[in-house]
Amino acid sequence: MPKDPVILEGNGPRHVAIIMDGNGRWAQARGRPRLFGHHAGARRVREVVEACPELGIKYLTIFAFSTENWKRTQVEVAGLMSLFRRYIAKETRALDARGVRVRFIGDRVRLDDKLIDLMDNLEAQTAGNDGVNLTIALNYGGRDEVARATKRLAEDVAAGKLRPADVDEQTLPRYLDTCVLPDPDLVIRTSGEARISNFLLWQSAYSEYEFIDTLWPDFSASELARLCHAYGARDRRFGAVKA
Ligand code: FPP
Repeated sequence: MPKDPVILEGNGPRHVAIIMDGNGRWAQARGRPRLFGHHAGARRVREVVEACPELGIKYLTIFAFSTENWKRTQVEVAGLMSLFRRYIAKETRALDARGVRVRFIGDRVRLDDKLIDLMDNLEAQTAGNDGVNLTIALNYGGRDEVARATKRLAEDVAAGKLRPADVDEQTLPRYLDTCVLPDPDLVIRTSGEARISNFLLWQSAYSEYEFIDTLWPDFSASELARLCHAYGARDRRFGAVKA
């Protein structure tokens, strides 16, 4: 098989964030239950993580479960939680061996203890790695994240550690779950929906977006490479005018 073209110019995205959508429709098109699509989607995660170093992607953030996804049927939610537990248990060693550093963002309060243990363990085991930074958004919502951050910021103000007059655009990001991550350069959403669904609301203020028709279980490293090349041709001005 020919290899995907490599981005040599160094102008590809450093941080790619992905809304992995379309698992349910992919399964339904095959007459299978929705969880079948989620399992197929989980296999795509590995391929995409493995493609990152060659594409110059240093940070990959994936939306695995939103604060709104609890509204799905009990069967689907339980199946997804079981999939996350199995995925983490199964992939920990391979991710570590590849030098991937894994972090989780989102609110852990509604997650079960076994899953939290596995998440803690994966984060701890890969904490010393300096390869791709994989961030998995689990029970994550952008509004929820901003609300939790604001609560902590307000607590610091109440405790006299921070003065309201000193709060500016640099202050709030320090309280976000993503405080150690750069903002995403490129946000990809699969499955033909053109919305951001509460993903990285603060962080993606100046991100480039790609909404593609591919259903997540059909997404591939070569499609990621194509999107990275297209990103390289974009003119990011961050509100300024080019000199
Ligand atoms: C959206 O597709 C997908 C999800 C809510 C779950 C995403 C989870 C995975 C890709 C599983 C693997 C993840 C990890 C980290 C192991 P959908 O169900 O909304 O699809 P639909 O819009 O076609 O119904």
